[in-house]
Amino acid sequence: MTLPVKIARGARTAGVACGAKLRLARAFLVFLAIQGVALAAASDVGEEARIDAILATLTLEQKVAQMIQPEIRDVSVEDQRRYGFGSVLNGGGSFPGGDKHASPGDWLALADAFYDASLDRSQGSAGIPVIWGTDAVHGHNNVYGATLFPHNIALGATFNPALAGLIAEATAREVRAAGQDWIFAPTVAVAVDPRWGRTYESFSSQPDLVTSFVAPVVEGLQSQQTIATAKHFIGDGGTRRGEDQGDTVLPLDELLRIHGPGYEAAIEAGVLTIMASFSSWNGQKVHGSRQLLTEVLKEDMGFDGVVVSDWNGIGQVRYCSNDDCAQAINAGIDMVMVPEEWKAFLDTTVQQVRDDVIPQARIDDAVRRILRVKLRAGLLDDPRPPSARAAEQPVGTIGAPAHRALAADAVRQSLVLLKNNDELLPLTPTADILVAGSVANDIARQSGGWTLSWQGTGNSQEDFPGATSIFQGIQQHVMSGGRVRLRPDGAYEEKPDVAVVVFGEEPYAEGVGDVAHLSHSARYPEDLALMRRLQENGVPVVGVFITGRPAWTNPELNASDAFVVAWLPGSEGDAVADVLFASPGGEYDFRGQLPMPWPAHDADPAGAADAVPAALFPVGYGLQLTDRISIDPALDETAHGEASPVEEVLFDRRSQPPWSMMIVDGKGRPQRVRAPRTLSADRQLGVEVRDYQVQEDARRLRWSPATGTDPRPAVQWQHVDGKVTDLQDSFPDPAVVALHLRVHDKPAAPVELEMRCGDGCAGAVDVTDILQQAPASSWFDVQIPLRCFRERGVDLGRVTIPLFIRSAGALDMTIADVRIREIRAGDSPRVCTDASKATREHS
Ligand code: BGC
Ligand code: BGC
Repeated sequence: MTLPVKIARGARTAGVACGAKLRLARAFLVFLAIQGVALAAASDVGEEARIDAILATLTLEQKVAQMIQPEIRDVSVEDQRRYGFGSVLNGGGSFPGGDKHASPGDWLALADAFYDASLDRSQGSAGIPVIWGTDAVHGHNNVYGATLFPHNIALGATFNPALAGLIAEATAREVRAAGQDWIFAPTVAVAVDPRWGRTYESFSSQPDLVTSFVAPVVEGLQSQQTIATAKHFIGDGGTRRGEDQGDTVLPLDELLRIHGPGYEAAIEAGVLTIMASFSSWNGQKVHGSRQLLTEVLKEDMGFDGVVVSDWNGIGQVRYCSNDDCAQAINAGIDMVMVPEEWKAFLDTTVQQVRDDVIPQARIDDAVRRILRVKLRAGLLDDPRPPSARAAEQPVGTIGAPAHRALAADAVRQSLVLLKNNDELLPLTPTADILVAGSVANDIARQSGGWTLSWQGTGNSQEDFPGATSIFQGIQQHVMSGGRVRLRPDGAYEEKPDVAVVVFGEEPYAEGVGDVAHLSHSARYPEDLALMRRLQENGVPVVGVFITGRPAWTNPELNASDAFVVAWLPGSEGDAVADVLFASPGGEYDFRGQLPMPWPAHDADPAGAADAVPAALFPVGYGLQLTDRISIDPALDETAHGEASPVEEVLFDRRSQPPWSMMIVDGKGRPQRVRAPRTLSADRQLGVEVRDYQVQEDARRLRWSPATGTDPRPAVQWQHVDGKVTDLQDSFPDPAVVALHLRVHDKPAAPVELEMRCGDGCAGAVDVTDILQQAPASSWFDVQIPLRCFRERGVDLGRVTIPLFIRSAGALDMTIADVRIREIRAGDSPRVCTDASKATREHS
């Protein structure tokens, strides 16, 4: 196998290029630091005196309000006028008026309204301008029509921090054009274990490479009277098993060596805010750690800006709740992201200061920092509302052609070529090309999480004006004599010359994207099946992999002749095609290099606790079209993941593909459950998103009291494509339907769990007693033997709806996990209860 040769070249290239760039970047940082000190000395006195003067005018309530950041869905302009919050935010998937298609004008109007209200002293506000924070993490991604830049992992693959700096500046312009002031980026996480759902928000697994991006990005983001945030301090990417919000177990010096340099660079570059990490360090939540937030960050690293808490992050500190956490304030949190429970938090905190639980001096320090940030961002000296400041940007800044061109450039520089046997690439414009794979013509999928919605799900092509898919890009390159066909399923009548299979992950964000192992084919078997089918029929395959993480793709590498890692390119899909058709050695030839190692295994053969240690391709690897390297023989396809338990997961943090959660109203009309809440057409049943262990990982189901409709509305999981599933062979007895739930209001009438198998084929189990005996308001597990459903008439060989929950009366419960699995130790499956009750006919 010729790989090692290639690895050597890749590694050398990386080492040289990266090393040189890093040295330059460091020299620049030192220069900046010296400059910074000089500037600070001259301006600090004036700055602090001004802050003193403002502080002296504020009441305790006004000070605490400066420290609060509610979410626009849960706070009104009138609340702003009354309390004078220091900041507001819009979370992922939150828009003015709840309108995903809100125009720049709508964003500006809301920004102006909050701003004007903050300056209005008539009702209680201190008259200090509010700042609006937003997650513009790959462009201004909550805004319809914005340029969607590739996610950070792709920027890491460009090894080009200067380009990332230009992107940051363009992002800041789009943010300014929509009226926001504060950008929750860059993520400077060092993603150690790609099982982490936020791997794509990280530039690299190498601290040096991450650090090289920090200063240009911070400076770019702060170039438009906008405020940047380095996040998430500290160790977010180092948690055990790559668990989001998990525990990073390291001695302090190692923590600082691996996860600290990004913050040092950010501080040197003048970053105004830093966000605390949800994660723990050696078992203690960072949000409650005075050692990390005050001693390390503020004292040792010299950070004099604002430490902002993450979304309800204070509530995760031991003995705290979302509206009560003196520990976090005392530990060093200055601004509190308390999206919903801000009113209670305000009251509690004011009282805690009165009771000396929080020293007055700590409050004064926090507010001083907040004012310092507003002053440094130029907001205290600029009396113009956001719309007036936005007017400085050229018309059409959001989604501007120049920004799209920059994004396209980044896409082209980020693609990593892992394999190109027989020089299958570049594609020939006169060839007959079959474009296949589920992501070929899907802008939402190629954009990933943090795209219009928090998870990046629920979007369709119409949600992306001005964007292009990868297929559309390929189309543009095909010339006369050539031919291009789009067939996501890979079917064809006439055999094509080549197939481009664009495949990959469904979008996700944060903990929802955590995975137990790195095998792509285990999660998406249909991708591999498609590639193999084409290969078996003698069609050369170019695999284009859309992914937020390095994955174990040995089977897919074997099933393709050429393999391109395209990461999450964003709105400019056509730029992917530019590289597929590039001339060898030309401007668009592949330049991307792996910013993280590509795993040799799906899991650590020694056990699943650690990240996979062995790399198939190291950091810095990436072929060019001029390289004549073949990878063969075939790569080892043995999977090491813990012999994956036989299970069919319907819901784990969210509905798991291929299952989709639906509400069926009393008339049998199904409707897809959407965040944050869905109400059945007859208003008898509501499903709301709830937080259990991480955000949005549970669903609260509420049936209203019986109003006589029958059948009653229900919740069900069904196959997205309406396919029939065989549970017969996959689940030898004994297996169970297992639910993790919590009952708030016990059922007032019979509740049934049903399984369906097509027309007239169904079986139900009565669970009324189980729910009635549920422990009051605490979580518990229920396991119903699969056999019960079979005994009630279900044909397990052709299940259409594995779970259908219906209640004949009022019921209020929250569900966090639903799966069908083999029985395991510790289970206490219920006996199959009275069958007669449960076989009632229904729609
Ligand atoms: C994320 C942050 C983000 C915040 C606001 C949190 O869940 O961890 O990165 O800035 O939400 O949306
Ligand atoms: C919210 C998002 C937010 C995210 C932060 C979710 O519960 O719906 O808007 O960005 O939490 O973690």
